[in-house]
Amino acid sequence: MKEKIKLAEYAGKINEELRRGILLNTNGDKFNSMSIGWGALGILWNTPVFTVYVRESRYTKSQLDKTGEFTLSIPLGERDPVIDRVCGSLSGRDIDKTAEAKLALEPPNANSVPGIAQYPLTVECRVIYREQQKLGLIPPAMRARFYPEGTPGCSAEQADPHTMYIGEVLDAYVIHPDRPAVKEESMNVFFRKNDINAGIVEFKNTEGAVLIDVRDEDEFASGHIPGAVNIPLSRLREVEDSVDDYDTPIFTYCLSGVRSSRSVPALNMIGYTNVRSIGGIEDYKGPLER
Ligand SMILES: Cc1cc2nc3c(=O)[nH]c(=O)nc-3n(C[C@H](O)[C@H](O)[C@H](O)COP(=O)(O)O)c2cc1C
Repeated sequence: MKEKIKLAEYAGKINEELRRGILLNTNGDKFNSMSIGWGALGILWNTPVFTVYVRESRYTKSQLDKTGEFTLSIPLGERDPVIDRVCGSLSGRDIDKTAEAKLALEPPNANSVPGIAQYPLTVECRVIYREQQKLGLIPPAMRARFYPEGTPGCSAEQADPHTMYIGEVLDAYVIHPDRPAVKEESMNVFFRKNDINAGIVEFKNTEGAVLIDVRDEDEFASGHIPGAVNIPLSRLREVEDSVDDYDTPIFTYCLSGVRSSRSVPALNMIGYTNVRSIGGIEDYKGPLER
């Protein structure tokens, strides 16, 4: 079972665990997990992001470059020394860490990279920006410490640069193996599952409001809320063809509420000032139009 969370409330816990290592999971040729100690939760381009730093030599880097997706698994209780040793010192290039550390994989919601039940705080991400660090721009003392190229006894691996991967946060939750999921009130601040039925009432009572279904065309055709226009998330810019006034009240929905919550910062960036995600049609109780 997955319990949606307010990720911002876990920022302190994430920082605390980063010092000991959290897990960066990827799923390219196979599932793999590596410990990371550098990273940050934040906001970029009005979007919740998690940034990680991965050295050139890591197997994880080749997987990240292939798929552009990662999921973070963060301990909330006791740490498992076997998981920490395997994921923090062995390479997926040489071994299957899932079997070696007996990782209990949990299917993802929004990307294709599983979480790990033993380290239950889970953050699913999609890479939206990457850049290799420029060694020449790093303060000399830090460079000498972390990239001691040419120092006797230092392997190439200890000196290779990190690439910064900025991942858009797609979903965040805690895995509870034996507890039912809790409801809406405690859901993530970024992806709070809104009451779509109350949202539709508010849409109807708001003069001049526009209702946008941000699902794909085939999903829209299979049944949508009467009065909605279809502008898929990937083509949101098209909204400017039909909504001239940037202060127009805009209500968005999708299937589960994830895509519609992503549509809010995207529409804000285009310039719309009055946008609300009202959740997912899967919870809608009224009649549908085809
Ligand atoms: C606590 C801890 C933190 C680490 N942090 C990072 C990190 O932020 N970036 C990095 O590239 N490697 C980091 N490492 C090293 C990798 O976890 C390690 O080299 C791992 O074996 C790489 O696995 P892979 O080759 O399967 O990707 C860390 C290791 C530990 C133990």
